[in-house]
Order: sequence, then structure tokens, then C-alpha cells
Amino acid sequence: MDAIEALLTRKSTALLEAPAPAGDDLEKILKAALRAPDHACLRPWRIILFKDDARHELGQIYAEALKKKDVDASDAALEKELKKPLRAPLVIAVIAKIQDHPKIPQSEQLLSAGAAAQNIMLASHALGFGGIWRSGDICFDETVKTRLGATGLDEIIGFLYLGTPKSHPPIPEFEMSDHIQEWKSV
Ligand SMILES: Cc1cc2nc3c(=O)[nH]c(=O)nc-3n(C[C@H](O)[C@H](O)[C@H](O)COP(=O)(O)O)c2cc1C
Repeated sequence: MDAIEALLTRKSTALLEAPAPAGDDLEKILKAALRAPDHACLRPWRIILFKDDARHELGQIYAEALKKKDVDASDAALEKELKKPLRAPLVIAVIAKIQDHPKIPQSEQLLSAGAAAQNIMLASHALGFGGIWRSGDICFDETVKTRLGATGLDEIIGFLYLGTPKSHPPIPEFEMSDHIQEWKSV
């Protein structure tokens, strides 16, 4: 798939199955992440792959976080957390490694990490895989952040669920003029 086709046809899909990107495909996807624009070459990203059984450990971290927040959390709620990362054969956490820099605002470092995440989503799609970028309270939870090594100003910007799409949802059409305009001189 060429780049323009990938850009125009990427569509999130939550219904994913094996196989996940692996081998050369996964390497290409991760290299694409590291080609994100990055002011002053701070490399403000940390990318953690949860493959196979590692996804169970991520679920345990989610459940541990819930237990810390709510000692009365029900077994059903804890079970739900344990199962969350099993919704795809590969889960990738993207952390913005943010520093207090004299010239580069924190927002730019966050955006760079977002661009890395989107490069992962697009490269995956271009190679025939699918996925969805998820976030939620777990991204902001101190237990989860600590366990994933997000310290100080770091932010978990998302968990990218990747695999083979079980279905191909339709691509929505947008009214270009709702979002895009040409500057008109006054
Ligand atoms: C930072 C960020 C966090 C997101 N978190 C979630 C989420 O937790 N759950 C969810 O269903 N979609 C989430 N989304 C939205 C989906 O990834 C997706 O963009 C949306 O379903 C629209 O589908 P599309 O990407 O195919 O247009 C998030 C998107 C971004 C950019």
C-alpha cells in the first residue's frame, strides 16, 4: 500500500485477532515510530511492547491500580481490568518522556510522542494490520505510570492495540470545508 492510500484509508478497529505484526513488519512499524518529528532531537518517546503473556502482566498492573484506587472493587471489575490487554494480540504503550527544557515546550514533546504513536498506527495499517489507540484513566493513573516507568513529567499517551482486523469498518466521509479553509485576505 502506498503512503497516500494508507493515510486515506486508515480506520480504527477494535475487533482484532492474531496474527499481530511481528518480525520484519514489526521492525518497520517501530522504525516508523522513531521517524516522528522531534524538535531538538529530544527523542521524547518510550515505547513498550506487550506481546503474548506480557499482556497478562499489563492486565495485572491495571487490576493492581484499580485495587489501590478502590479497595472494594468487585471481582468482576478486577477481572475486566485483567482482560483489557487481551483485546488484541499486541499492545504497545507509548510514553512521552517529557523534560523541562529551556527551549522546547512540554506540549511539543507530547505532540512528538503523539506523532510517533500515529506513525505506528499508520505503518501497521500500511502493512495490512489494524488497531485502535486507546487511553482512559489508566493513562493518568500513578500506579500504572510508575509500573511502566513514566516518571516526573512523563505522560502515558496511549495504548495501541494492534492485530489483524476481524472486520473493515467503513471510512467516514468528511465535509472538507467544515475543517479546512483557505486564507482570504481582508
Ligand atoms: C489520544 C487518544 C486516545 C484515545 N482513547 C480512546 C479510548 O480510550 N477508547 C476508544 O474507544 N477510542 C479512543 N480513541 C479514539 C480511537 O483511537 C479512534 O481514533 C476513534 O475510534 C475514531 O476512529 P478512527 O481513528 O478510525 O477515525 C483515542 C484517540 C486518541 C487520539
